[in-house]
Amino acid sequence: MFTYLFAYSMRRQQAVVMSIIEVAPLEHIRRERSSIKWTRFAADVLPLFVAEMDYPLAPAIVATLVERVQASDTGYLDGPGALAPAFARFALARWGWNVDPSHVHLATDVSVGIVEALRLAVPAQGRVAITPPVYPPFYELVEEAAASVVETPLLEQGGSWALDLAALETSFAGGIDAFLLCNPHNPHGIVWTRDTLVSLARLAAEYDVFVISDEIHAPLTHPGVTFTPFAPLASAAGARAVTVTSASKGWNVAGLKCALVIAADDATNELLNRLPEEVACRTSILGLHANIAAFGCTDWLDDAITQIVDNVSLLDTLLREHLPAVIYHRPRASYLAWLDLRHLGLGDCPYQRILDDARVALNNGECFGLGGRGFARLNLACSPDTLREAVARITALVARVGADTATA
Ligand SMILES: Cc1ncc(COP(=O)(O)O)c(C=O)c1O
Repeated sequence: MFTYLFAYSMRRQQAVVMSIIEVAPLEHIRRERSSIKWTRFAADVLPLFVAEMDYPLAPAIVATLVERVQASDTGYLDGPGALAPAFARFALARWGWNVDPSHVHLATDVSVGIVEALRLAVPAQGRVAITPPVYPPFYELVEEAAASVVETPLLEQGGSWALDLAALETSFAGGIDAFLLCNPHNPHGIVWTRDTLVSLARLAAEYDVFVISDEIHAPLTHPGVTFTPFAPLASAAGARAVTVTSASKGWNVAGLKCALVIAADDATNELLNRLPEEVACRTSILGLHANIAAFGCTDWLDDAITQIVDNVSLLDTLLREHLPAVIYHRPRASYLAWLDLRHLGLGDCPYQRILDDARVALNNGECFGLGGRGFARLNLACSPDTLREAVARITALVARVGADTATA
């Protein structure tokens, strides 16, 4: 055991020099962490479900947190302070988006930011459009804001997905108060093109639909892919929009509870100025400092993306070799893989069969709304060995099921 841990610690030291984020062995992470990823299922289940990374935190974030705790800087917040210019610098350098720091507001997390923005922009019993399959809590967040969900599913065209702009226009024309955009889109990892977003902004302006753009996965856009922030397009088209984002996915700090709600223009900022004072006050001061450190720490982010993209390719190779019946389109952002498991022979709910009999926890596609049945989402922010093991377990299950069917 000692030799193993010594070898691991040596590899970590080398990894720091080589700018590689070394992932600790699963048993080690399971011992160290107490989040849902490591506690929901028994220890023999490989956890590839919730969107948390297995990577260790960026050293700059660790240092900031230690420093703030040592300074006893653990009180309440009054506003974004230094976070607004820190995010503005990141957004400009990364995406060419000029954020006005006075348009930046705080919320506990992206989910709360969405609910609070909906409460301001949508009347009671208002109608909010979403585009399933999509991040499952979108359904609950709309309900939490006392509004109702209108589903306009993504269009599947030859294995790739698009926003159904014609259906959205029909829906907007029928009376929609707000549209919840997932940009990039979870679970597919789609990075919407500028043209698509320009069309959406025009529709939103024409039908006066308030757009909330959830851009939490945007920092994790893969190399060679262009992410387009929605706010500047909305402002150019005369649409009302806010962006809700955080370092929580890109740097794996979801538990630190801090997000940004950003108005696209002055008029929308007037609306956000009406956010209850408690929304900022409930945000974690440690989360705020972690976000400031994160947005200044792009080397770590780029290293994480490199490892994710390696796993995207590895999954592609493993599936072609061992599970060719799985349909998988590479994500263009973030670390989530949306897998079509309908042809695996594992029945109506492959997620459950894989959990029960292969001991691999994915996210059940059905929870992502219309069009999700028979699919599952897999988290790629793990070590290549974990990914290999997951595919090996599923392959063995499929072989067993195939053999049972043949002899039945
Ligand atoms: C698209 C999307 N929005 C929001 C969230 C949740 O963010 P938060 O923890 O900041 O509420 C997630 C988490 O995975 C997500 O994928």
